[in-house]
Amino acid sequence: MPKNKYLQIIEHPLVLLYITKLRDQNSEVQVFREAMDKLGGILGYHALSHVSTKDVQVQTPLEITSGMKLNKTVYVIPILRAGLSLVQGILYFVPNAKVGHIGIYRDHQTHEPINYYDNLPDGLDNGTCIVVDPMLATGGSASHAISYLKENGANDIVFTCVIAAPEGIKKVHTDHPDVPIVTSYLDRELNDQAYILPGLGDAGDRYFDTTPF
Ligand code: PRP
Ligand code: URA
Repeated sequence: MPKNKYLQIIEHPLVLLYITKLRDQNSEVQVFREAMDKLGGILGYHALSHVSTKDVQVQTPLEITSGMKLNKTVYVIPILRAGLSLVQGILYFVPNAKVGHIGIYRDHQTHEPINYYDNLPDGLDNGTCIVVDPMLATGGSASHAISYLKENGANDIVFTCVIAAPEGIKKVHTDHPDVPIVTSYLDRELNDQAYILPGLGDAGDRYFDTTPF
């Protein structure tokens, strides 16, 4: 899959280290949570390269020099449930970000996204939205969430995930060609249940330690 400014695949030994912990079915929940949190920080760091900045002057104790600050409010938008696992990692870099929530689960038979909850802050039209979800599988949930943000005024959106399938990248790029995807890993394909291979299983169930359906 060709990389371009709309697809960033982070290549770093630390990413591989944490992805390996996530993939391992024997990882205990605290190991899984810690790896997700660290990857949230790494994804946030890279997603923030898409945020617009402006030049400012800063007075050091010795002289005035040039610096920069963020030009827009940053909104972190987790897709519930599993997206919550990445929020703290991103807030580490932008502790004043606003956080909005979009609740979506996949129908187990059709794999279509079912939207069950929304709570978005005002002012999306003047900010940069970083949508977070560990898994981009069919792309239905991500595409639905991005559409909903656009309906609510958002016009500067970045989607970030821990593991992406080619099918999901294609769907988001087709539906939202203006939205860059930042992922820490590109996996091979989906199985016939629309789970990512090799993947890590059900991200939400593993992170929240709930019983799979
Ligand atoms: C998972 C994941 C994504 C979605 C990805 O959520 O966190 O939101 O599936 O699949 P898609 O790309 O095919 O839409 P899930 O439906 O398991 O809900 P949960 O986060 O509440 O566990
Ligand atoms: N959602 C998950 O949690 N895992 C997958 O592999 C696909 C969708």
